[in-house]
Amino acid sequence: MARNVLFIPGDGIGPEVMAEARKVIDWLNARRGTGIQLTDAEMGLATWRKTGSPMSDETIAAAKAADAVLFGAVGGDEEIPRKLRRERGLLALRRAMGLYANLRPVKAYEALLDATSLKERVARGVDLVVLRELSSGVYFGEPRGTETLANGKRRAVDTQVYTEEEIERVARDAFLLARTRRGQVASVEKSNVMETGRLWRDVVTAMHAAEFPDVTLRHVLSDNFAMQIIRDPRQFDVVVTDNLFGDLLSDASAMIAGSLGMLPSASLGTADASGRRPALYEPVHGSAPDIAGKGIANPVAAILSVAMMLRHSFALTADADLVENAVAAALGEGARTADLYIQGGVQPLTTIGMGKAILGKLEALGG
Ligand code: IPM
Ligand code: MN
Repeated sequence: MARNVLFIPGDGIGPEVMAEARKVIDWLNARRGTGIQLTDAEMGLATWRKTGSPMSDETIAAAKAADAVLFGAVGGDEEIPRKLRRERGLLALRRAMGLYANLRPVKAYEALLDATSLKERVARGVDLVVLRELSSGVYFGEPRGTETLANGKRRAVDTQVYTEEEIERVARDAFLLARTRRGQVASVEKSNVMETGRLWRDVVTAMHAAEFPDVTLRHVLSDNFAMQIIRDPRQFDVVVTDNLFGDLLSDASAMIAGSLGMLPSASLGTADASGRRPALYEPVHGSAPDIAGKGIANPVAAILSVAMMLRHSFALTADADLVENAVAAALGEGARTADLYIQGGVQPLTTIGMGKAILGKLEALGG
């Protein structure tokens, strides 16, 4: 069975970290027979400069047709016109592929406990997943826009909107995911103030009672969650929340792992008749223009995104475990990039050096 993956390195540090992810895939194909076929595609700033559009129709079609998309990062210092970015940027790709479920796992590696901004005793053992709704909410709600009022001042509007179906599909994923983990769901909204929050809580409560009584459900207001995730992150297993809260709270949660450079993600859509879900895997960190081209970016998020692809798109559980174990083993031996450097610690590795350390561990653990 061919596994067709569209490979989009993008801008900034995207190409640097994705080059290391590609080496991991080449290794898996050669040594584990994973049969992953990469097709290269372009997107982002460089594409816009060349063609006047950051993403072509062909790329959108190829992303929809692929079994999975591996994505680096887009964007940078230079500004693509806003309208073009909305229509042809990452949000447009997420929307076109129907990616509504964004999984952002956060793990505290024992070897990185000195790099987190929390106390070791707070961060130790954290293993949670933020499940962020990705294709609705205030990111896409209408009306939106900016108008100039009679008095010459401007007025801007964004709209937070959720339908029951949109809440149900992501809530169902959260409960199903919890069943494969520690059986706990925290549903995060602002139901004390927002209508969408009220609906969110109602829908999640009803689904829990009807279909998932075996899972433990907790409702947490988003402001309280922001406090709890710093106070005691170990209390969380699966966290399901809307698009905007998920954006904020996943970045905050990332610091438990020590660096945004550690966080992979999976974005999934609705399964087709054959059970295949549209899927896009990307590091959470973005294009990081300040360090692009220096060869110092952390490739771990990109490599862990490959592991998520193996697990979620191809059910290659043993290979996914192997990649994750190789990352943990490399970190365990002190391999780190500059983002994880602490004063007085060992000299950080380059992007390529970190990739090499992980490949070495793959070879040792599963060659
Ligand atoms: C993310 C990013 C994006 C988002 C931006 C780049 C549009 O911050 O993936 O978290 O807000 O969704
Ligand atoms: Mn974000």
